[in-house]
Amino acid sequence: MAHTTNEPATHVRINPVDQSVLGLMSRRSVPPALLRTPAPTDRDLMDILTIASRVPDHGVLVPWRFILVRDHQADDLLSELLQAHEAEENDEAARSAMASRLRTWLIGPPVIVFLIWRPNRAANFPELDQLLCAGAVAMNFLHAAHSTGYGSIWLTGWPCYSEAPAQILSLAPDEKVIGLFPLGTPVKRPAERARPDVRELLSAWRS
Ligand SMILES: Cc1cc2nc3c(=O)[nH]c(=O)nc-3n(C[C@H](O)[C@H](O)[C@H](O)COP(=O)(O)O)c2cc1C
Repeated sequence: MAHTTNEPATHVRINPVDQSVLGLMSRRSVPPALLRTPAPTDRDLMDILTIASRVPDHGVLVPWRFILVRDHQADDLLSELLQAHEAEENDEAARSAMASRLRTWLIGPPVIVFLIWRPNRAANFPELDQLLCAGAVAMNFLHAAHSTGYGSIWLTGWPCYSEAPAQILSLAPDEKVIGLFPLGTPVKRPAERARPDVRELLSAWRS
């Protein structure tokens, strides 16, 4: 479309200003204890995953995938994970802390999304780039959940990084969990937390 102002063509905005940018200024992670039904509709869920997948991708390798756990499956997943954790952990306090954490993470939020990193080691693109690409999916997922009126949070730890959970999720040997994302409707807005002052993070080149 021809531009009609006196600005040089390079200054024409190719995207209209999107009001949702204001929403991104207020995004917060929502703790799993605050995530409840209504679950995202199937349409919303596909939109969230589609937005999440719209990432820069060096080599176009698509080095990620998602595993979805619906609430009717959460009890089974919880008991398999707890059984595996008990087999590894002798300390009673640690067992009980993990049981309580996993119950909060998995039981209540209507959907759990596992984001899986699947590096393509045969491709001639840096593994770090492939990992960062999957990390970008994670952040896009959080923005998409927030923008569509839902909430989520990026969680990791034992259920993501250990061998037994990888088997429970039927991961291939090269695959790793990037994060576990409970997804649902926030029952209340979490309080804001301190944010970095970007002016302190910014310096001019050679200043
Ligand atoms: C890679 C990664 C892993 C995380 N793992 C956990 C976790 O296991 N448990 C937890 O409580 N928070 C974890 N967090 C922190 C929360 O996701 C989140 O950053 C924090 O609650 C602050 O929320 P905000 O998004 O509103 O800044 C993790 C964050 C990142 C980036």
